[in-house]
Amino acid sequence: MTSFLSLRAIAKQLMAPGKGLLAVDDFPAGIEKRFAAVGVVATPQTRRDYREMLFSTLGFADSVSGVILYDETFWNAKFPAVLKGIKLDMGQKPLALSDGELISEGLDGLAQRIAGYKAAGASFAKWRAVLKVSAVLPSRNAISANTHALARYAAICQQMGLLPIVEPDILMDGDHTIERCAEVTRIVLDELFEQLELAGVDLAATVLKPNMITAGSKTKSESQRVADLTTQVLINHVPTGIGGIAFLSGGQTEIEATENLNLIAKKIHATFSFNRALQDTALKTWAGRPENIEAAQQAFAHRLKMNALAAQGQWSLNLEQA
Ligand code: 13P
Repeated sequence: MTSFLSLRAIAKQLMAPGKGLLAVDDFPAGIEKRFAAVGVVATPQTRRDYREMLFSTLGFADSVSGVILYDETFWNAKFPAVLKGIKLDMGQKPLALSDGELISEGLDGLAQRIAGYKAAGASFAKWRAVLKVSAVLPSRNAISANTHALARYAAICQQMGLLPIVEPDILMDGDHTIERCAEVTRIVLDELFEQLELAGVDLAATVLKPNMITAGSKTKSESQRVADLTTQVLINHVPTGIGGIAFLSGGQTEIEATENLNLIAKKIHATFSFNRALQDTALKTWAGRPENIEAAQQAFAHRLKMNALAAQGQWSLNLEQA
C-alpha cells in the first residue's frame, strides 16, 4: 500500500498561506490562439520565451507554490524553485452519443507516463474535466464519465507517487443563471467525491480545482453573491478532509477573479490556480517583443501579489492602483 504521507505534505506546500498556483499548461493549439490575439506566432521558441519570462519574474516564488506545465515546457524550460506539476489529461474529445458534450482522455498508459515525469522531478499533476451548462446539460452520462475518469486518474497518480489535482471545470460559456451553476456544481461535486471514495483515493493527498459559482459569461455576477454561493456549495459538498482548494479563473477578468477569491478566502481556506486571470495583462504587454519584457514582468508580478493577498482575504481595490 502506498504511503500518502509525502503526498499530503505536498498538498500542504501547495496550499502554503499567501501562495497559489500558476497554470501555464495550455495545449499548443490553445496558446496559439492566445498568442495570435496579441500578434505573436506560436513556435516552440516563442512558447518557451514567454514561459521563461513569467518564471524569471522577480518575486515569483514568494507568491507561487507550484506551476502546472504542459509536456513541452516540462522538458525544455528553465524552471524556478517551486513545485513542478504536469497536466496529464490529453484534452477533451466528443463524448460518444452525447449532445456535443466532452470527455477528457489520457488514461491509457497513464502509469508509464507518470513514471517518466516523476523521475524528472514532478510532484503533482492535473486533470481537467469539462462540463457544459444549459437547462439540460450536463447530462448524467457526461457527469458520470468525467468524474469516473478523474477518480481513476487520481488513484493512478497516488499509486505512482504524484499528488493529483482534480479539476471538474463547469464552464461559464452560455447564458445560464448563477443558481443553475450552483445546482450543477453541487451535483458534480457529489458525484466526484463518490467516485474518489470508490477508487480509494486519499482526499488529504488530493487538491480540488473547482470553478467559482458564477452566472454564464453573458451576465455579470455580483462578487458577494459569487462568494456566498461558492463558499456555501463548497462547505456543503466538499469533504472537510480535502488536501486543498485552488480555484480556476474560468474566463473571469483579472479583477473579478481576484475580488471573488478575496471574499471567498475570508470564509474558507482556498487559493488560486489561475491561468488567464494571472496572465492576460502580462501576455498583452509582452506581445512577443523583447523590449516589453520588463513591463510585462511588472504586470505579472503585480497580479501575483494581488492574488497572493486575495488568497488571505487581504486584497482591496485600492491596492490595484497603488
Ligand atoms: P483558467 O484560470 O484560465 O480558467 O485556467 C485554469 C486552468 O488551469 C484550466 O485547466
